[in-house]
Amino acid sequence: MNAFSKIVNQETFNKQDLISMLNTVGDEQALLYQKSRAVKDYYIGNTVHLRGLIEYSNVCIKDCLYCGIRKSNKNTQRYTLSDEDVFQCALYALENNYGSIAIQAGERTDQLYISKITSLLKEIKKLSNGKLGITLSLGEQTLDTYKEWFDAGAHRYLLRIETSNRELYSKIHPNNRLHNFDKRIEALQNIRKVGFQLGTGVMIGLPHQTIENLADDLLFLKAMDVDMVGMGPYIEHQDTPLHEMNHLLKSRQERLDLTIKMIATLRILMKDINIVGATALQAIDKMGREKAIRYGANILMPNITPGNFRKKYKLYEDKPCTDENSVDCNNCIDARMSLIGSRIGYNEWGDSRHFTNSKFNP
Ligand code: 5AD
Ligand code: FES
Repeated sequence: MNAFSKIVNQETFNKQDLISMLNTVGDEQALLYQKSRAVKDYYIGNTVHLRGLIEYSNVCIKDCLYCGIRKSNKNTQRYTLSDEDVFQCALYALENNYGSIAIQAGERTDQLYISKITSLLKEIKKLSNGKLGITLSLGEQTLDTYKEWFDAGAHRYLLRIETSNRELYSKIHPNNRLHNFDKRIEALQNIRKVGFQLGTGVMIGLPHQTIENLADDLLFLKAMDVDMVGMGPYIEHQDTPLHEMNHLLKSRQERLDLTIKMIATLRILMKDINIVGATALQAIDKMGREKAIRYGANILMPNITPGNFRKKYKLYEDKPCTDENSVDCNNCIDARMSLIGSRIGYNEWGDSRHFTNSKFNP
């Protein structure tokens, strides 16, 4: 057994091991992927679960320096879906046997909004007879808000840490009360405290980000003992301040490659968690999500937002499926998964096994 093969077959991994895994090329990279596939086959199997993604609103009170829907971007036309639109999406997911939906939006924390989400959640639970699982991705909220939404029927929550490095975090966010690293960590803890399955993740290939940072990100995910991870390549957006740093970026292909290595390494590190094949992968490579699924991911989030709003939820450039309707997505996703020997777990919630087995599950 060569030295690298010994590393990937260990039970525990230190930072240096993770760095070696992220730096692999050629035969060693193939070995990394072989191992991550074996781990996935054993702990997860070949079933992929869907979360029909509803991009509820692009109104946002925050100003993340990388994000196309940041408050200061005046080139974005703001929208919020009507209740009727949201129910149509939920029914679409139900009729197409998706099992779960995910509601994502820019961040808002006003009382009117909080109550609106609560009533939408209750209504979706009712109209689906409790059949649809609900993931939320609605940013940083108070403990009370998280509790209210959990009690209303959502049971998984995604809030990316974006980077676990405090210094890098402050380079990609404005430095003010609304964009505070410690508050974000506290939000993650609160999400768990109220009973949600906890998901987080990072962007990969950010300006100033190093391989050491990414290895630390993996150790952070492990230390937080998260149930779900969604991570994807950073993709520049011309209407954002971070665009000025484009000269520092790796090529898109390199960012994609690194993302797949992050997913494979994470699968080896955290064997039974849910890992999303992020949509941003597909913005770089038409087969990006398939590669993610092949080497470790087990969740896809097909966009089911009504077609006319999709162009407006533009977090980054070349976002895929922005001019399609969800029916197209639905047909293509089944065929795409069959092609790589995976099957879709229709009508199942596909909860994180890590959560089901964990101490946090009452
Ligand atoms: N490139 C890639 N991902 C982005 N996100 C926001 N802006 C970008 C970008 N330019 C991601 C963030 C956020 C998620 C909803 O979208 O990680 O948490
Ligand atoms: Fe909306 Fe970052 S810009 S949360």
